[in-house]
Amino acid sequence: QELQLNLEQIEKSGFEHFMLKEIHEQPNAISDTYRGRMLVKKGIIKMAGVDDNIERIANAKRIIIVACGTSWHAGLVAEYIFEDIARIPVEVEYASEFRYRNPVITENDVVIAISQSGETADTMAAIKLAKEKGAFTFGVCNVVGSSISRETHAGAYTHAGPEIGVASTKAFTTQITVLTLMALKLGKFKGTISNSDFQFHLQEMERIPEKVMKALKSDELIQKIAYTYKDAPNCLYLGRGYNFPVALEGALKLKEISYIHAEGYPAAEMKHGPIALIDEQMPVVVIATKKGHYEKVVSNIQEIKSRKGKIIAVVTEGDGEVRELADHVIEVPETIESLTPLLTTIPLQLLSYHIAVMLGKNVDQPRNLAKSVTVE
Ligand code: G6P
Repeated sequence: QELQLNLEQIEKSGFEHFMLKEIHEQPNAISDTYRGRMLVKKGIIKMAGVDDNIERIANAKRIIIVACGTSWHAGLVAEYIFEDIARIPVEVEYASEFRYRNPVITENDVVIAISQSGETADTMAAIKLAKEKGAFTFGVCNVVGSSISRETHAGAYTHAGPEIGVASTKAFTTQITVLTLMALKLGKFKGTISNSDFQFHLQEMERIPEKVMKALKSDELIQKIAYTYKDAPNCLYLGRGYNFPVALEGALKLKEISYIHAEGYPAAEMKHGPIALIDEQMPVVVIATKKGHYEKVVSNIQEIKSRKGKIIAVVTEGDGEVRELADHVIEVPETIESLTPLLTTIPLQLLSYHIAVMLGKNVDQPRNLAKSVTVE
């Protein structure tokens, strides 16, 4: 017993929980994921699974992404990146919904499964179905040799290292990293991204680990915010564009580990329902980074403020406009819009972590949840 406890302490390398350790591992996990693939000086991206099948993937009429949970959110971010950079139409599906309807899949489709464990039953079944219908299947998994990585025609691993906390953190950001590299590679092959833009993306990606490290420095501020809102019964998360899936992911993190009811919404949809919930009791986390419809998000913030909602804003370093309106402001470094999810996710992970710890919840093993759902 004592030996086991010590072993666990060693594994946590000084952090109180695996989740916190894994949040802090993200700068390395992201660079481990692009290292050897992204050759910035040469201006190329090498990914064997994509290189070997480049025609098939680049000429896909459609990409269908299937996943569950946090991996599904990474899929939503990828939808923006693939359409933006590689100009391939993308659909993102819950694996469990996809497999049980009669989906239209053709031989011209590429189906990408995203799965940290590579063992999720619904995602596995979705891949088998896609294969049967003749689609080309591609796996983005973290666990080497996992079932989904073996079942798919090709794939690219995230190099996040083992993720123990049930709430996924570094798997999410490394999935986005892999999918971004893939979109860039396809965009270059298809000529839908200019050489200079491609190069700029590589340079910016290379700076992400250092920027994640900077984003992690807001930890103390986030603890104070967590303390203020830990007893809230509900919380709303809003974002637009690339940061809409981040809002969903932020809400999921809070639900999973603190058991506070949280909802993520595209900021502009607020007026079609969630705005009715806003009063002085309601904390609203808004992702309002520069670029990406910034002015529109600012007007969403004004709408919340006039209804006395409490605003926690995630903004770009040096932002002044939102600071005037928000109750709390958390800064992240500036980067290109498509890479902002890798930074804006960090404070949301920390916020849910601290709230859960303050509420005395079992952060690494939340009730009713499993790390890998191998049953249907
Ligand atoms: C479970 C886990 C989540 C995870 C989801 C999908 O619900 O608790 O953290 O996002 O499964 O898992 P996968 O291994 O397929 O990414």
